[in-house]
Amino acid sequence: VTIVDDLKKGSVLAAKQIARLIRDKQAVGQPCVLGLATGSTPKTLYAELVRLHQEEGLSFKNVITFNLDEYYPIENDALQSYNSYMHRHLFSHIDIDPGNIHIPNGELPKEAIKQHCADYESKIEAVGGIDLQILGIGNNGHIGFNEPGSSIYSRTRLINLENSTRLANAYEFANISQVPRLAITMGISTIMKARKVILLAWGPAKAPVIRESVEGNVTEQVPASLLQQHSDCAFIIDTAAAAEL
Ligand code: GLP
Repeated sequence: VTIVDDLKKGSVLAAKQIARLIRDKQAVGQPCVLGLATGSTPKTLYAELVRLHQEEGLSFKNVITFNLDEYYPIENDALQSYNSYMHRHLFSHIDIDPGNIHIPNGELPKEAIKQHCADYESKIEAVGGIDLQILGIGNNGHIGFNEPGSSIYSRTRLINLENSTRLANAYEFANISQVPRLAITMGISTIMKARKVILLAWGPAKAPVIRESVEGNVTEQVPASLLQQHSDCAFIIDTAAAAEL
């Protein structure tokens, strides 16, 4: 656990680690596979990556991305979709090859979802797995949209969102009834297979779940606690989120 003064410092720290990995991979002619998160938490991280691209020449030409999750159903270009979030905050501002961007598709008919999820896993495997996975954390301990009770063996799949999660995300929608009841999310096992994981958390609201995740029992009831079993996982959190440690 690395505790920083504020989210700006934490975001800059995480961006540095990502930039170093991208450049190390570039130096040996390899792709860099990033797992990316959405929500309010990584916005400053993405702003810093955009700054590194615009002001310090960081190229994303060798970067392949897989996003953690997407609402279902949702149109790709809806304001609230994670697809448009990613373009708004990162992809539109960097030199990534559009063919290297992967985000679960919230537009597919329900009967196509199972295959889509299996294909998503295959695509991750085909590029050699995720080098670095960025995570936020839900107030209930979810990572991606893996709600409490998600199995450690879970893979990319359709999941029911808890009402507390829909409520927490309602600010992005006109009202709670507009928040989709389902989402497509990478599984816990998908996340655990990433070679390195960085979880970010800012602010006092996350303090209780950070304590449970870092110091509590390893339990599927607090999905982020399962990260205690990952061999290379860092939590970068601010003093407010660390207040109960
Ligand atoms: C969202 C996302 C998660 C995110 C979490 C926290 O619903 N599916 O990937 O980490 O909830 O969101 P926030 O960063 O806005 O607190």
